[in-house]
Amino acid sequence: MNDRIISLDRFIMSEQSRYGGRGDFSAILSQIVFAAKVVAAQVSHAGLIEDILGRTGQKNVQGEEVQKLDEYANKVFINALNYIGKVCVMASEEEPDMIVIPPEHPKGDYVVMFDPLDGSTNIDVNVSIGTIFGIYKRVTGGGDGKLEDCLQTGSKLFGAGYIIYSSSVNLVYTTGNGVNVFSLDPSVGEFVLSNPNVRIPARGKIYSTNEGNQPYWKKGTREYIDYLKSERNTLGAPYSSRYIGSLVADFHRNLLKGGIFLYPEDTKDPKKPTGKLRLLYEANPLAFVVEQAGGWASTGYERILDITPAKLHQRVPLIIGSKDDVLEYEEFAKKNLS
Ligand code: AHG
Ligand code: MN
Ligand code: MN
Repeated sequence: MNDRIISLDRFIMSEQSRYGGRGDFSAILSQIVFAAKVVAAQVSHAGLIEDILGRTGQKNVQGEEVQKLDEYANKVFINALNYIGKVCVMASEEEPDMIVIPPEHPKGDYVVMFDPLDGSTNIDVNVSIGTIFGIYKRVTGGGDGKLEDCLQTGSKLFGAGYIIYSSSVNLVYTTGNGVNVFSLDPSVGEFVLSNPNVRIPARGKIYSTNEGNQPYWKKGTREYIDYLKSERNTLGAPYSSRYIGSLVADFHRNLLKGGIFLYPEDTKDPKKPTGKLRLLYEANPLAFVVEQAGGWASTGYERILDITPAKLHQRVPLIIGSKDDVLEYEEFAKKNLS
């Protein structure tokens, strides 16, 4: 690698010296990177060397089938973070309760929440999947972290990002000073800066949503999607529909090309009146990233990062991407509150 190529390690150290810090956050991020490399290795060999595909036969707190890779990724991220003495508590999509730090390990000043494997239904069919993470500073005193350390508004996020396991493995993150994309160079085993200071176009030409839910959407949502599919919209031509079914992959494409992703509230499942996606480890981290890239993230009625969480696995409608598109959706949603 020539010296023009910036490794992620070098970038983390330069950010730390530029923005200060004792290195605790850098240590956490480095462990997330390590865990990502371990998961990436399994994803790339899934179905080849060991029985990592398929279902475990259990259901998680979400009531969803747990895939073996969900469980594997969950353990890898927990074990990479729980012993380093920088974290006081964690939360994961795959764990019903907060993840406390084992008594034999020191507690730190940070809180990490994550979706260890996003897009689980796509694991066995070789479609892009990912990991989403958010990092907060604790708000309670020393010792074990508490629930209130986990239930902070997204606007308090100290850092957030995601890894996408695809044809190439990308790691994207922000600490509030812009968004940078790193690509894993498998020949070296290092992430290198591939797309510095990403900015999402103010308006896109792509919309991403599961149109199978259309019969269950509110009137405003139905009218908005029909508007995008018409010549009435600001483009003067129908938007393109792109939906992978892995939030991280749909989000990443729209971040780079512009566009809007919608998982709105629907009446399909009375247990999930506010949509399928989770606030703490899906909506909030991606909302921080997209705002840092000039985009926006809303429920249709309020800014995602302003929501005060009440529960670990709280679900929210997620409308995220190009700012002008998301704000235009809000006009439709607010107009037709039915
Ligand atoms: P997860 O695999 O972590 O449960 O997340 C899956 C989510 C998200 O990745 C995706 O956008 C959404 O589920 C797709 O849901 P539908 O299949 O209902 O469209
Ligand atoms: Mn997910
Ligand atoms: Mn998941």
